[in-house]
Amino acid sequence: MTTLIDDLLKLGQHLDKKNEERYKAVSKERTFHDIERIIKNHALNMVAAAKACGMNRVTFKAKYDEAVKLGVIDEVLKPNSSSYLFTLKHMHALMDWLKLPKWSDKNYETHVINSQNQKGGTGKSTTLITLAAGLSLLLGERLKILVIDLDPQGSLRKYLLPHQEYAFDILTAVDIMLGEDESDGLYQEYLDDGLSHEEILKSSIHETHIPNLHVLPSFSEDERFSQAAWMHFAKTGDLKHVKLLKEKIINSVKDDYDVIFLDTGPHINPLVWSAQYASTGMLVPFSPKELDWHSTSQFLRNLPHQLMQTLPNKGENIEWLKVLATNCNAEFNRDQKVLSASREALASGEWMFPARMINSQAFEAAAQNNCTVFDIKKVEKLCPDKQLDKIKPYTDILINEFLGFIESKSKVKADE
Ligand SMILES: Nc1ncnc2c1ncn2[C@@H]1O[C@H](COP(=O)(O)OP(=O)(O)O)[C@@H](O)[C@H]1O
Ligand SMILES: [Mg+2]
Repeated sequence: MTTLIDDLLKLGQHLDKKNEERYKAVSKERTFHDIERIIKNHALNMVAAAKACGMNRVTFKAKYDEAVKLGVIDEVLKPNSSSYLFTLKHMHALMDWLKLPKWSDKNYETHVINSQNQKGGTGKSTTLITLAAGLSLLLGERLKILVIDLDPQGSLRKYLLPHQEYAFDILTAVDIMLGEDESDGLYQEYLDDGLSHEEILKSSIHETHIPNLHVLPSFSEDERFSQAAWMHFAKTGDLKHVKLLKEKIINSVKDDYDVIFLDTGPHINPLVWSAQYASTGMLVPFSPKELDWHSTSQFLRNLPHQLMQTLPNKGENIEWLKVLATNCNAEFNRDQKVLSASREALASGEWMFPARMINSQAFEAAAQNNCTVFDIKKVEKLCPDKQLDKIKPYTDILINEFLGFIESKSKVKADE
């Protein structure tokens, strides 16, 4: 007679097999058809492309022809003989070649921004990916952005580009953080194959449909991180895992990016602390509903004590914290009461962004289609036109305000 334990062991083996299929999961979430469509949605015609480069059409066309001749870029898409479609990839390659200014010319220290709130479903991930994509799409800035998903239940992998011929299986930030201490798993296999930690890490970061936006995904097995951290702590009294994200990942990739966003789950645990330890700034999204505000203010009240107790440097690395109201009802100002109360409570230290993100079916439609609100075109009819129209002024203001804010917090890198 089999016992429950035997059955559970069998179930475990079955689930292990399922977990081998991460790559397939990603491919399923985004098909090539979707990607091609989204890439086209972002493409610029000749006039817009010339404008983005600060040139007139004739000069720009001459430069384009030269770039193609020199092999800087491939020929662009040509839906018909007289129209040209410049994808974002073309635009980045051209603008780099033309030596147009970009954010990294300013030589700022990389911002590592943790989107956090212990309340689930408050719009953390949506806010984070909207900000990351919105900032990446500013061709005048050409920020290089990395999003690291640290929520085991996270879904930011929906934005990866699944390359069919991709040699690597998919590793998560947690796989890479724990890799050297674990006796088996993909990370160990790659080490055995002679790859270095840096090589494994860099190959695990994925491109997205926006060329300057990259993602390091999460999967549900990442839950094991906090257990590993506590088991180590029980044995040694040392909570060394809290330092792993910074030491094993951020330090190795930060020179490649201008902004690194960290998305965390609605938890208080070592994985979330590792994000806090690695961060230079904290973004606290919340929906202005009574219960959300209550738990957000509770979170803010407890935060300094938690940082002092759990972080090796007592949170001194975190230079700023900003609360952002999201998912706000714009039509009938239903959220006005809670929004005003939260603004009043946070006014003393300019703790809150004046801009807010509004509620719109466009965010739901984007989530269902594994893309961001910026990837949708009206003709696709994924949501009512007016739902797309209504977010544009709000996202424009928010992206602008956020960019100005991080610029104001930027520090020029010290000479080495
Ligand atoms: N501004 C918004 N308008 C409409 N729906 C939203 C908005 N922001 C988030 N949502 C939806 O709310 C749900 C929770 O959002 P999510 O970003 O996953 O929250 P969290 O990361 O805090 O758990 C998702 O279904 C998401 O699509
Ligand atoms: Mg989330």
